[in-house]
Amino acid sequence: MSSTDIEEVRNKQVILRDYVYGFPKESDMHVGDSKIKLKVPEGSSAVLVKNLYLSCDPYQRTRMKKIEDGGRIVSFTPGSPLTGFGVAKVLDSGHANFKEGDLVWGLTGWEEYSLINSTESLFKIQHTDVPLSYYTGLLGMPGLTAYVGFYEVASPKKGEYVFVSAASGAVGQLVGQFAKLLGCYVVGSAGSKEKVDLLKNKFGFDEAFNYKEEQDLVAALKRYFPEGIDIYFENVGGKTLDAVLLNMRDHGRIAVCGMISQYNLDEFEGIKNLIHIIYKRVLVQGFSVTDYYHLYPKFLEFVLPQIREGKIVYVEDTAEGLENGPAALVGLFSGRNVGKQVIVVAHE
Ligand SMILES: NC(=O)c1ccc[n+]([C@@H]2O[C@H](COP(=O)([O-])OP(=O)(O)OC[C@H]3O[C@@H](n4cnc5c(N)ncnc54)[C@H](OP(=O)(O)O)[C@@H]3O)[C@@H](O)[C@H]2O)c1
Repeated sequence: MSSTDIEEVRNKQVILRDYVYGFPKESDMHVGDSKIKLKVPEGSSAVLVKNLYLSCDPYQRTRMKKIEDGGRIVSFTPGSPLTGFGVAKVLDSGHANFKEGDLVWGLTGWEEYSLINSTESLFKIQHTDVPLSYYTGLLGMPGLTAYVGFYEVASPKKGEYVFVSAASGAVGQLVGQFAKLLGCYVVGSAGSKEKVDLLKNKFGFDEAFNYKEEQDLVAALKRYFPEGIDIYFENVGGKTLDAVLLNMRDHGRIAVCGMISQYNLDEFEGIKNLIHIIYKRVLVQGFSVTDYYHLYPKFLEFVLPQIREGKIVYVEDTAEGLENGPAALVGLFSGRNVGKQVIVVAHE
């Protein structure tokens, strides 16, 4: 059959209306329909997938504003579907590494079906005895982020004092569990009582507190870390970072993973206590998971047995249907998600 004979099907999509400044709103996106042929164009090396689960990630907010990188616009395109990490099933493939029926995770579109030309960002899913949706989080980009941020960047040692912010989220809940597995003392901060309870009772953090209820973050950290913090796993930035700097121990490390409190600001907040980096000889290192994908097989080898033995647990917050995608994504910035925010596009 030639490609012109192939029938088109409806393809529901979440579309960005325009560039976004300030706090994102559901109405910055809308759900629309387009048409797609469920075959890759003849001669192309693309894959055509049916999206099953999509991941809501804070970095997507940064793609909603106009950003240029070396003259190239790297933002989402207004009028087009958002892109992000997801789990999908291959329906047709022009690429030798993928075949119909394969399950994959990687960068895809916020739509029912996607034609993926950049197959270098797709990983074939080999282990299906764990929930497939985990490949948006624990077994995907956020999981690898927690693993490399903690083990590679923060250089942890048994018995050290570890603080994690946004601790109940996709990345934070894993960092805390990795730190406990190594024998560290771990405290997490999060934005509600429900999250604090999860940290202490489900993820095994030694202590946790609701940062929204603390008048004085410096004093709160002193309370939980009377001897200071060896490792701060930074997810939020702003006032939390300032308070942490006053509580670091000599030769402490700050693994700077994210600064979600800054993503919606037109002008970033200043940090006052940087001088303590010198006083305490603190190593502050930003990192991007994109530099560490070569460690993904090693990560899987480490984490899969821990999941199977119940030593690592994972909490997801699931939104059903693409229609609920915009609210789920926007909800990351008010802390609406409890655990890793996933959108179910289709159950397999
Ligand atoms: N460097 C990398 O390669 C890399 C890769 C992945 C993720 N990241 C970063 O890692 C961080 C965590 O990502 P995630 O996927 O695990 O997200 P997440 O924690 O699952 O969701 C975001 C959470 O951030 C908290 N938050 C939102 N606004 C905040 C504010 N103004 N101040 C303090 N907390 C706020 C909310 O929890 P509360 O209810 O606790 O406030 C919200 O639930 C983000 O900064 C993200 O950008 C970096």
